[in-house]
Order: sequence, then C-alpha cells, then structure tokens
Amino acid sequence: MCGIVGYIGKRDCSDVLMDGLEKLEYRGYDSAGIAVFENGSIKTVKTRGKLACMKAKLDNEGKPLGCCGIGHTRWATHGEPSDINSHPHSNGRVTIVHNGIIENYAELKDFLKEKGYVFLSQTDSEVVACLLDYYYSERNPLKAITETVKELRGSFALGILFKDFPDRIYAVRKASPLIVGKGDGEFFIASDIPAFLKYTKEYILLDDDEIVCMENGKAQFFNVHGIEVSKEVHTAEWDVEQAQKQGFPHYMLKEIHEQPDVADKTLKAVIKNGVPDFSDAGFTDDIMRSIKKVFVVACGTSMHAGIIARYAVEKLARIPVTVETASEFRYMDPIVGKDDLVILISQSGETADTKAGLELAKEKGAKTLAIVNVKYSAIARAADMCINTLAGPEIAVASTKAYTVQIAVLYLIAFRMAFANGNITEEELKALTKEIEKAPDAIRNILKKEDECRFIASRLVNVEKLFFIGRGFDYALSLEGSLKLKEITYIHSDAYAAGELKHGTISLIEEGVPVITIATQESVLPKTISNMEEVKARGATVIALARKGTKFAENTVDILFEIDTELPDMLTPLATVCGLQLIAYYTSVLRGIDPDKPRNLAKSVTTE
Ligand code: AGP
Ligand code: GLU
Repeated sequence: MCGIVGYIGKRDCSDVLMDGLEKLEYRGYDSAGIAVFENGSIKTVKTRGKLACMKAKLDNEGKPLGCCGIGHTRWATHGEPSDINSHPHSNGRVTIVHNGIIENYAELKDFLKEKGYVFLSQTDSEVVACLLDYYYSERNPLKAITETVKELRGSFALGILFKDFPDRIYAVRKASPLIVGKGDGEFFIASDIPAFLKYTKEYILLDDDEIVCMENGKAQFFNVHGIEVSKEVHTAEWDVEQAQKQGFPHYMLKEIHEQPDVADKTLKAVIKNGVPDFSDAGFTDDIMRSIKKVFVVACGTSMHAGIIARYAVEKLARIPVTVETASEFRYMDPIVGKDDLVILISQSGETADTKAGLELAKEKGAKTLAIVNVKYSAIARAADMCINTLAGPEIAVASTKAYTVQIAVLYLIAFRMAFANGNITEEELKALTKEIEKAPDAIRNILKKEDECRFIASRLVNVEKLFFIGRGFDYALSLEGSLKLKEITYIHSDAYAAGELKHGTISLIEEGVPVITIATQESVLPKTISNMEEVKARGATVIALARKGTKFAENTVDILFEIDTELPDMLTPLATVCGLQLIAYYTSVLRGIDPDKPRNLAKSVTTE
C-alpha cells in the first residue's frame, strides 16, 4: 500500500527520494523516511506524519548528502504509526524499506531473538533487516538476500542497503509492486512509475522473488537461486503531465474531467471496423462461444463495474454472470471450472484479493480475462487474456475515470459476446457500437452541469446519512454513487435496489433524509417513481437523476438533475456516473476534506 523509492546516480539523492515519495503520496501513508549513503555511511531521517513533517525534519537536521539511497511512505500494518516504527529500519549491517506484510514475522522474531538480535520497533519489517544481517555472515549480500527470501512468507517489496557496500542498492519483491527505472547512468526503484517519470520513461519489471543490484551505472538481475537473468526494458506510455494536476485543485476533479477523452481513447482501441474486437487480447468469438458461465471478481469500484457487466451480459448475451467480491471469492470454494470465464477487473492491477482470485480461477482451470488500467501490473501479467483500459494514471484514491472506461469495455464485451453467441446480428452489433460511440459527448454534456452538482452538494454537506436507490442498471450505478460519496465525505451512505427499501431500510427515512434516486430506465420507471413517492411521503428530500423530459407528479422531487443524452437506457450509466462523481467531489470539498486523500484509505490495496 505504501510507497518505496530508491535512487542511485549523480543527482542529489535526498531530493530525488522526496520528490518520488510525493508522487506516491496518493497510495496512502502515515509516516515517511529516507536513508542515504553520506560519505560512506548511512544517514537515516524518518518521522511519523505527512511529507510536510519529513521536510521540516530534513530542514532541521540537515538533509543527507549523497547520490544513493532509499525512501518510504508507510501505511502501518504492524505497530502504530510512530517515529520508531517508520521505515527505513536498520539492524546490524543492513538498512531496509519494506512494503507488504511478513506473515511469519512472529516465529522469525523468536528465532532471531534467540540468536541475540534486539528489536527496536514493533514492525514485521524489522525482522527482515535482522534476517538479512543473520544470513550476511559470509559478507555476500546476494546470498543473504536469496537465503532470506526463502524464509519469508507473505508479501514484500524491499529496498536494501548494506553498510559495507556504499553506493549500491539491492531490491527484491514478491506479491507487492516494485519497478526498476532505467535512466542515463542512473537507476531508480519505485512502487509505481510516476515516482520516476520525470527522469525516465524506461522501466524493467521484477518478477516474484527476482533481485536487482544497482551500482556504478549498471543494474544486474538475479533469480532466487542467485543466478543472473536478463530482463526486457519497457517504455512507459504515460507522461509527466498526465500524472500532474494540470491546474485543477485536485486530482479527482482533473480525472473526472478527463473522462470524455479517455472514454474515446478506450473505445477506439477496441472498436475495429465499427464493431468491438478483442482478438488482440486472445478473446475470440470461439472462446466466447465456449463459455457457459461468467464470474466477475473484483473489489470496490471495480466490483461495481462488474455489476453493470452482469446486467449487460445477461441481457444481451444470455449467459449467466455472477459478481463476487474478490475477498469472498478466494475463500468460498467457488464452483468454477474450465467452461467458465473469470473476469478480473482492477484499476491498479495489484489488488491482493483480486490477484488471489485470479490465481484460484487459474488453478481451477477457468479461462481468465483481466481488465486492467495499469499495463505493467501483476494481474495484467498473470491473466490468460488482458484488455487494457486507457484511463492513464489515476492518482486520486476515489476511482472515477477508471470506472467509466471499465464499464465502456464491459459493455463492448457484452455486445461481442451477444454476437458470438448468435443473440444479435452483425447489423445489431454495429448499431449498438454506434450508440456507445456517443458516450464521450454524453459525458461532456454532464460535465457542463458542474454548478448543479455543486448546488446538490451544498444540500448534502451537513447531513448525517443518505441513501441511493435505483432499479436495473441504475441500481448497479447507485452502488457506485454511494461508495464514491461515502469514501470521500465520511457521510454514512447506502445504496439499495429501489424495490428493496420497504423490506427494512425505509424505517430509517425521516424528515430531511436525502434519497438520491437514479431513474433513467424507461422499462421500470413507473416502479421507481412509486418508490420515490414512498420515501417522499415519509419526509425524505428526494434528489432525482432522470432523463430530460421525465414527468414526475408534483412535489415528488425536491431537486431534479436532468440527464440530457441520446444514449439508450442501458448505456446511461456512462453519463450519469459523472454527475454522481461531481456531487461526491463537491460535498467532500465543502466539508473541508481533501478528496484526493480520504482518511484510512490507500489507492492500491496490496494486502488482504
Ligand atoms: C474506489 O474509489 C476505491 N478507492 C476502491 O474501492 C477501489 O476501487 C478498490 O480498492 C479496487 O481497486 P483496483 O481497481 O485497483 O483493484
Ligand atoms: N508491514 C510493514 C509495517 O507495518 C510495512 C507496511 C507498508 O507496506 O507500508 O511497517
């Protein structure tokens, strides 16, 4: 979850590390630190709190002066956020930064205590520093790392300095992200590319248990047996500007406004000759025809995109779809096999539970298809087939543009599966594709209504709870609207299928409780309107998102947000979601919260 950076080259290392950590702030953290070789010895500065606290400390104590070092932002898992528990950790002759969880740390700690090691922190990570020191008896860093890695259970990305080898960095990873950046005579390690994008676009991926050693303008890679391996150098498609705020007050607002362009880009990448075509990813019509059942496995917003997919695939392709939260799927012994398709959806491509779901699906012989925004991520690399969404870097913790492009791709999959299975003709496939090509304009129209969203936000700013309701595709979307709002405003919010309210939740409706109703689906509109009237009769403030021209009885709706779009009903979530995102964004800002960094949340959830 946290961020790791490392640098070796000719620049001022402290500056490069702090700059890199800033770029990784979006991942969520509670403390930070750096360790740099200064005149042959390691100087460490670390503190609880945000990077501003780190900067103050560096100003007070003087920043370490050197050209080789490692840095860390910590999201505490073992031991409270404190100066002592902050990384880097040093013990014996080794200094490390660690991202992840060492599951067997307690037994390793007992073993090391017996050997005479004294622990300074409460973290699981310090065990790794001690174990490395223990295996460093022959003064062979590579051997110390390979021996240590064999003993560790859990997930780790490690940046490692050995006191005896100034100006050399080792790194190794397993199940936690870590990428090597290759500049001109300089190298970087980082949890994500934006940390070094300013200096280089070239990067190298480390596989599980692979080790890199960087010194004197060169990097060598080794497998877990210590044997040198050669690695491919990739070039990032993202650029520095994309990973910056570009004049917007927050990344979230910038990312909301990018949606027309990224939707257009993502659609164009998979539409060929007027129809969706996934053969580049290996997802052919033959495979589509062979599928008896679809599982969608994902977390949070990505899981909500899966619920849209369920409605679309079942409606059009008539293939049963089950959507499972990845943390449940992995432990539920799911009935899944070789005739099934398991779709893994993930913005980051690193979410631990989704990745475990993928591994389980593969073990059970199912076909696996990843829909992932980060091309170089673990899930993208491990799935049988992969479709890349082209949202570009998503920095804000609240996912916005990634969701929109995920559902765009999922609709196209539904269209193509319907065609492959003979449920629609080629003409119908072309017609549907034409409809979805209107999405970027439809999104643009909603984004013009920012003032209305701000007004709705002003009505929500002081409430304690609220509800979202909808039916069909609108229900799927209300789940996402509710999550967006609660995660960045801290207002208790729940989403329900509109017909379900009267089975319990309506008892929570009292004078002034806002009920945000999404009512864009013609086929169930009279039913949804009845549900609005039910809550209105009990004092709710009804905020309705409905197609332009929808008729409501007098006094049913307190605030109407019109969705003016040519998109057919099934596709309206592509536009409506943008209104919900803006409402959540402005409510957060009006409540004085930083929507980019909501409390307790991390962008990339690489632990269970
Ligand atoms: C979205 O706003 C959330 N912060 C979160 O639910 C997120 O969608 C979830 O953690 C899954 O992440 P992923 O798409 O990177 O796998
Ligand atoms: N488990 C480690 C700790 O609690 C690392 C946490 C992280 O990934 O930031 O210090």
